[in-house]
Amino acid sequence: MKKILVATGGGDCPGLNAVIRGIVKASINDKEEYEIWGSLQAFNGILCEPAKIVKLDNEAVAGIHVKGGTIIQTTNRGNPLDFPMKLEDGTWTTKNRCQELVDKIHAAGFEYVINIGGDGSQAISKTLHDLGLKIIGVPKTIDNDLSATDVTFGFNTAVQITTDSFDKLVTTAESHNRVMIMEVMGRDAGWIALHTAIAGGAEICLIPEIPYDFEKIVKNIEARYQDGVGFVNIVIAEGAKAKNGTVTGTAAKDVGDNHIKLGGVAIELRAQLEVSGVEAQVRTTILGHTQRGGTPTAFDRILATAMGTKAFQMVKDGEFGKMVALQNDTLVTVSLAEAISKYNVVSLDHYLIKTARATGIAFCD
Ligand code: F6P
Repeated sequence: MKKILVATGGGDCPGLNAVIRGIVKASINDKEEYEIWGSLQAFNGILCEPAKIVKLDNEAVAGIHVKGGTIIQTTNRGNPLDFPMKLEDGTWTTKNRCQELVDKIHAAGFEYVINIGGDGSQAISKTLHDLGLKIIGVPKTIDNDLSATDVTFGFNTAVQITTDSFDKLVTTAESHNRVMIMEVMGRDAGWIALHTAIAGGAEICLIPEIPYDFEKIVKNIEARYQDGVGFVNIVIAEGAKAKNGTVTGTAAKDVGDNHIKLGGVAIELRAQLEVSGVEAQVRTTILGHTQRGGTPTAFDRILATAMGTKAFQMVKDGEFGKMVALQNDTLVTVSLAEAISKYNVVSLDHYLIKTARATGIAFCD
């Protein structure tokens, strides 16, 4: 009996359960005998004494591809490179627990690991692989910011959620002659905002890759009003910033989490517009974590299932230290080093930037 440990790390994302189910189903249908286990809350589960791990059999995964979230839970408070530890005096420090993690995984009888996560999780995968662990990565993120794969599962669902919300805001913007600002996630990548703006037909789209000129936003809004009548729908990415400006957010409060928590740029923009003399009423909607919740779209379920089955096949083929990726409608494997080497942001000559400009969506640059 060969044992595979599965973990989901970082922020959750629609499609994680479909990957887990894909791995388990593929293992059940294989002629060799495999046991699949899940480590609860990323690798924190296997680091616990006693380990918090659950067996993932046919019964455990039945029907879960339809559910958002992850049945084995996740966390961003468990980076083994920088693991938060509470000292006796109540203060916190961090410790590198990677070797201990590898030893615990082996001691528990696991030969193989499949780590489902974004860039941070795959950086962990690489470190663990360098320490001798037979590990495979599966990319996930709603942000679509991993460059080795054409698309990540979760992104399609997020864009459907943001587009549905945008459509709802358009009708109320028209009725009230208002400026609506809708803030979407995406970290430093504008993919969610750009896709939503085109799908919804926004007037203005503000993304991190194209810093905006505030005066141009004001001019654009004013040009769309005559005698107080008009409306403007703005999609703004959480990582968007003005030219020579900085991103809006707060420092992470968790020990071991060095990320800025982006959020609130829509509120800042509204405040600036109100003092700028724009006469129209301005309202903001920050979609937040709704973008990561709920049922994955059919596209994401399919991609996630395919990636799960491929990850299992990679175990069988001995393709360790690699990540599954979708390239040109084919599932391929890329080294973890390559997978984490580059961040996938929107390039200024991307066809969707041209599409947006051609349909009159202003980036106000
Ligand atoms: O990476 C996914 C993501 O949802 C980003 O779009 C967002 O900036 C971040 O995670 C939010 O993180 P948290 O769930 O820790 O607030």
